[in-house]
Amino acid sequence: MSLVHGEVFERLERFYDGVPRDTAHVETYGGLVLFVRDGAGWPFYARPRPGASEPPSAADVTTVRERQRALGVPEAFEWVHENHPELLPVARSAGLAVLEAPLMVLDPAILPPAERLSDVPVRLADPTSPDFGRDVATQRAVAAIGFAAPGTAPGDAGPVARDAALVALTPRRVDEERAQAADGRRAYALAESVDQGAVAAGMAMRVGDVAEIAGIATLPTARRRGLAAAVTAALARHLLDSGTELVFLSAGSEEVARIYLRAGFRRLGTACIAEPAPVTA
Ligand SMILES: CC(C)(COP(=O)(O)OP(=O)(O)OC[C@H]1O[C@@H](n2cnc3c(N)ncnc32)[C@H](O)[C@@H]1OP(=O)(O)O)[C@@H](O)C(=O)NCCC(=O)NCCS
Repeated sequence: MSLVHGEVFERLERFYDGVPRDTAHVETYGGLVLFVRDGAGWPFYARPRPGASEPPSAADVTTVRERQRALGVPEAFEWVHENHPELLPVARSAGLAVLEAPLMVLDPAILPPAERLSDVPVRLADPTSPDFGRDVATQRAVAAIGFAAPGTAPGDAGPVARDAALVALTPRRVDEERAQAADGRRAYALAESVDQGAVAAGMAMRVGDVAEIAGIATLPTARRRGLAAAVTAALARHLLDSGTELVFLSAGSEEVARIYLRAGFRRLGTACIAEPAPVTA
């Protein structure tokens, strides 16, 4: 795949617009769309409306924030800066804090084998296995503990905290997740050590031939041993092997982006992730 920038940005736009549509309905507010999840699960974001004649205004942002509050979901907005450069100042003027996250695309020619990055084996959750529901729950528990200790430094939280955070999925949710994994729309990877179980994990969402890797996290007790890079590389390999053409992710910081560089990704642009700015006294 050659990384023709304009084409890649267009495909990313279609991806962001497409990925929530399986499980959410769309509400339109001027130049923005809000994806409202049908049923339980992680709430979605609002983003620029495809094909809108006018860019989103500060008033659109304010209206969507009111709606998100009424729904009881996070006031979350996401967009690709290169596709909507006008939105960054508008979002800030409407009271949002915007994280400018490195947007990175896999270069398959430099994707290393996961085994070269870490000595802890990484496996993909198998949707035909009776353990599949538990694997998905474990990925979420690892992410909950990992994201609760932001940054890349090691810390005290480990397998005990992970097990305490484990929330079993309902049978209905397991069936939905299983169906999505079976047809390639979702993938889950776990790095498991023999004595500690899953110590790092991540997942991928796919729409057509484009996939995003997300939720990469390592328990603080297991950090700085190459696990996040290995989980990322294993997911990327799985996605390529199952026919995905474009694999991307957004890194939470420049520091985290270094990890993805080692897993075969290259910086392409900036993903904007916005939430309400903290209120200062
Ligand atoms: C970010 C995060 C996933 C990294 O996990 P990790 O498993 O420690 O990552 P890695 O071990 O692959 O890389 C981390 C560092 O360890 C180094 N490292 C890798 N293997 C190593 C080894 N065997 N010995 C010493 N250092 C090693 C890497 O070079 C990297 O160093 P750098 O920061 O100087 O670039 C983890 O800190 C985390 O869960 N943070 C909170 C959640 C989060 O931010 N997730 C990412 C969202 S985009």
